[in-house]
Amino acid sequence: MIPKILLLLFNLIIYCFAQYEVDPNGYVMFCPCMGRFGNQAEQFLGAISFTRTLNRTLVLPHWIEYPPRSFTSKQVPFDTYFQVEPLQDYLKVILMKDFMIHIADSIWPKGKRYVFCYDAQAKENSDKRSCNAKDGNPFGPFWSHFDIDFDGDVFYRPLFYDISIADRWNAKFPSSEYPVLAFSGPPGTEERNIPIAKYFIYTEYIRKQVDEFLSKNQISPDTLLALHIRNGIDFERACTYTTENSNFFASAQCLGHKLEKGIKLTNEICYPSEDNILIQTENMVERIKPTVVYVAADGNPMIDEFRKLLGKKYNVKIIKYERPENQSLGEAAHIDLYILSIAEHAIVNCPSTFSAFAKRQRDIREKSTDFWGIENDKLTNEPKSDL
Ligand SMILES: *[C@@H]1O[C@H](CO)[C@@H](O)[C@H](O)[C@H]1NC(C)=O
Ligand SMILES: *[C@@H]1O[C@H](CO)[C@@H](O)[C@H](O)[C@H]1NC(C)=O
Repeated sequence: MIPKILLLLFNLIIYCFAQYEVDPNGYVMFCPCMGRFGNQAEQFLGAISFTRTLNRTLVLPHWIEYPPRSFTSKQVPFDTYFQVEPLQDYLKVILMKDFMIHIADSIWPKGKRYVFCYDAQAKENSDKRSCNAKDGNPFGPFWSHFDIDFDGDVFYRPLFYDISIADRWNAKFPSSEYPVLAFSGPPGTEERNIPIAKYFIYTEYIRKQVDEFLSKNQISPDTLLALHIRNGIDFERACTYTTENSNFFASAQCLGHKLEKGIKLTNEICYPSEDNILIQTENMVERIKPTVVYVAADGNPMIDEFRKLLGKKYNVKIIKYERPENQSLGEAAHIDLYILSIAEHAIVNCPSTFSAFAKRQRDIREKSTDFWGIENDKLTNEPKSDL
């Protein structure tokens, strides 16, 4: 009896160690320090592509949220929202917490923690060349969350993140000397064709909440039209910076990476008027006859306007997610995103990175997606192959 227990214990110990084997090729760490979830997810694309090319392990950072009326940011573990396992099919990953607890001490001990940036950042009243990696929010709180202080800065100029082969990075920063490449910003590349949606699978924690919300309101995703309206004040301002001849945030999703769809990025695409939102929604409702219209908006969700226009005429229910008091805005956004991802039909915002996340999720589910301000038949310009 006793030997058996010992054996079990022994196996358990082996298992625990095996699970956190050190990757001889090293690790990549970064702070998703720009923007909210949509932008952070875009930054992941670059980080994933970069890390995979180097055949290193990506340390999955915490998501950074900005609670209203708070002076600091909040760090949310990656796996609160997304499962880790599916990502492992695409590249080597480890949660930041696991890395810091099980691996950091042996290969990245205090005293040897370097931070990487392209070049020194200018700083007032200082001649010291530095990445200033922990200056300000969210930079400081992100690293401090795991008690990380940097002992030196490494400038990787003239190398770029945009790599298709690992040679130059490995020659300059071999994993034997630099087991961890910790970047003060996202190691972003222009690589956008990563089938990432397939590997970003929501956790049970989020899915369960969505299921409960849908069943409580008797909504079936099959007859659901979901809208993402990006009408907060920040976007209104941002949209004044668009130009017709270049992409803006995530607009490549509807304009094409080289603007090959020939669509001009107008203000009605970036920040559509309420009138046009109502018109486009009504056209869609008339065409597809949903039973429910779900509205996700960061500004005015226009529920009354939708109800007045559509409710009786089309016998359609207009609904939005009601966030429980104890739920953060950041988490509630994922409820919206998941519903936007699974609804049978959706109209989303072309330049919005939040919309882009939902669009990618919809693509893998083979659901079509419309954009505000763009006629659907303009979106596909693939040559007809019925010759
Ligand atoms: C990538 O690294 C792993 C070790 O983490 C190794 O087993 C694998 O062979 C490497 N792949 C390539 C293509 O070098
Ligand atoms: C909020 O409260 C509900 C009910 O009391 C509980 O089930 C849920 O886990 C709480 N959510 C959070 C994020 O604390």
